[in-house]
Amino acid sequence: MITVRRITIGDPLYAQSVAVRESELLKPIGLDLAKFKAMFPGVEERFEHFVAVFDHPSGPRVVGTALLLPNQGPGGPETGMGKLMQMAVDRQRQGEGIGTKLVVAVERRAFGELGLRGLFCHARDTAFGFYESLGWAYDSDVFLEAGVPHRRMVFHAPATGE
Ligand SMILES: CC(C)(COP(=O)(O)OP(=O)(O)OC[C@H]1O[C@@H](n2cnc3c(N)ncnc32)[C@H](O)[C@@H]1OP(=O)(O)O)[C@@H](O)C(=O)NCCC(=O)NCCS
Repeated sequence: MITVRRITIGDPLYAQSVAVRESELLKPIGLDLAKFKAMFPGVEERFEHFVAVFDHPSGPRVVGTALLLPNQGPGGPETGMGKLMQMAVDRQRQGEGIGTKLVVAVERRAFGELGLRGLFCHARDTAFGFYESLGWAYDSDVFLEAGVPHRRMVFHAPATGE
């Protein structure tokens, strides 16, 4: 069974989450955690780290990751917005709904306890369909980030009906 947990960088599962980020996201484009930290200085500690965990008999195994940077807008710090980053699922477990579980957990946290009004991400061209399937909308033309075509995508907090 897969469950999604929110961890800190002091959690024993943090190293496993970094391994998933590096193998699925960073190393394929010539980066590692150190280079990622240099690109986004000071944020690794500010992220809320979400991990999808498979309860293997030999111990918990991280099979997916997502990071949430609260109060960050497309142009910089912005109260009420949040940035979703580092969405990655172990390639042997892709297509099983794990990415969906992670995004739903991030949205629940963002629009529930944190009271954010919207989320955005820089989606890689190879993942546009994933975010579209979750109801996210395009919010920019294609731009290059780390040499990879991306588009900004957004998702707004559901109306409360008040
Ligand atoms: C993109 C990624 C996070 C999706 O996670 P996942 O667990 O495989 O996705 P899910 O199984 O929850 O898929 C949900 C839906 O999105 C679709 N989908 C998943 N990945 C997709 C992709 N790359 N392109 C288009 N559609 C995709 C699925 O078909 C599914 O659609 P359905 O609901 O109609 O069946 C994962 O494939 C991954 O880690 N890819 C490599 C790293 C990456 O590109 N990360 C995103 C950077 S912005």
